[in-house]
Amino acid sequence: MPEDPALTLALPKGRVMQEALRLLRAAGMRLELAGAERALRFDAGDATLIVMRNADVPTYVELGVADAGVVGKDVLAEAGSTLYEPVDLGIAACRLSLIRPRGATGAMARVASKYPRTAADYLRRKGSTAEVVKLAGNVELACLSGLADAVVDVVQTGETLKANDLEEVDVILESSARFVVNRAALKLKAEHLRPLIAALRDLTGD
Ligand code: PRP
Repeated sequence: MPEDPALTLALPKGRVMQEALRLLRAAGMRLELAGAERALRFDAGDATLIVMRNADVPTYVELGVADAGVVGKDVLAEAGSTLYEPVDLGIAACRLSLIRPRGATGAMARVASKYPRTAADYLRRKGSTAEVVKLAGNVELACLSGLADAVVDVVQTGETLKANDLEEVDVILESSARFVVNRAALKLKAEHLRPLIAALRDLTGD
């Protein structure tokens, strides 16, 4: 029977996964998706890949179900993660920003976000007493519908803001995807993880 791959990697589903796979392959890993596009856990050659929502990657790596993973700095900040982040992969660049309807001024009473912790920290720093409401997605709708007078959300191209007459008032965090590693795995699987980290650093110039 063939042996299980030495490493298990947690990847966020979607476009970031494709970019992460491109980098991991360039770093020397043999990773084949062949017919497994919708599988959530599969042997891809040099690693077992487990595929999930990006917000769950820190949990899988922290608890050691995955040895390493790829996840955005925005998600790590929101999770209050203390994971080892040896490489900034430079992909999935975006920023977390405070967003308001164009021209809006005055104090904010309620701010909606998928990132309630980051939003609350930011508001506290700014001396705002606004209440933070957690939403699951399409957060900009909160501004448009009157649910909130501002949102903290991801801006990538800025197209969503433009299309909805919203304005980026302040950048809270510049984000990009990080290669994160479980600390115990770093010791136990050093012969696999150390060269991979070194190759990713070479590739990304980090
Ligand atoms: C994200 C984010 C914004 C949009 C920003 O949403 O929440 O809505 O992308 O991108 P842009 O600046 O390029 O327009 P995503 O599609 O990830 O889904 P969600 O709103 O359901 O979280």
